[in-house]
Amino acid sequence: MPDSYAQAESPAAPLPWRLADIDLTAIDRERVRSDETLFYLLATSSFVEIASALYTRNLSAYYASDEGVLEWLNGYWEQEEIQHGRALRAYVQAVWPEFDWEAANAAFYAEYAARCTLEEFEPTPALELVARCVVETSTATFYRTVHQYTDEPVLKEITGHIKSDEVRHYSHFYKFYQQHHARERVGRSKSMRAIVRRVIEVANDDGLIAFRHAFAYRYPQRVFERRHYDAFLGDVRRIMRRHFPVEMALKMLLKPLYLPARLQRVVLPPLRVATRLVLG
Ligand SMILES: [Fe+2]
Ligand SMILES: [Fe+2]
Repeated sequence: MPDSYAQAESPAAPLPWRLADIDLTAIDRERVRSDETLFYLLATSSFVEIASALYTRNLSAYYASDEGVLEWLNGYWEQEEIQHGRALRAYVQAVWPEFDWEAANAAFYAEYAARCTLEEFEPTPALELVARCVVETSTATFYRTVHQYTDEPVLKEITGHIKSDEVRHYSHFYKFYQQHHARERVGRSKSMRAIVRRVIEVANDDGLIAFRHAFAYRYPQRVFERRHYDAFLGDVRRIMRRHFPVEMALKMLLKPLYLPARLQRVVLPPLRVATRLVLG
């Protein structure tokens, strides 16, 4: 079982905002309760976020010789990511109390923990930091999308906080990347390959596992089939088409490539088109 989420939040943790300060009784449940897609988005994100201690452990092992990275990961990043998970859990439990979050999360965690290994990391510290920038780009743009999509005030408040945290995480990983980049002299094509690899991974990876476990506990009497997940992805794509911040995503993804301004102006328009095509 995950030990991170079971612990009480430490009052000393240096968090930029606190779940305890959010008034969950103010949730306008009727605005969100029938939104099946939102339920899955929030439940699956809560599972992944709350399991962040696993990642911190692996990343800490990987960056054992870099004190700056270690101190930030363990002192700030982990606490903030776990709070994201706790806030989303609290929201899901408040809106969908019949959903057995604890049981679904335990089932997810058993499968997820076995997959979170050091082998998944990029071959060098700088390239893994590029990849972490991709992950933070995906979370920052995801919460921004949900923030734009929802008209429920408490969820707007929570996702507003989370998206700011994720943007800040990006800037920390980017700063560490700059330091390692100078030492490693990573070529642009290597960085680009690391970005593409992680974009593909983010798109394919843990979503299905998390969805499957959320589905199993939401509908214990039904058997999960791939079409259920595909239908969910179709709904997510419809939301993304309207609310996904394409410009923000592209700028964040391209930044570690240090493209000259002129080249950036050339590559941005086709990338915008490609992103819109992917969103459908
Ligand atoms: Fe997060
Ligand atoms: Fe983050």
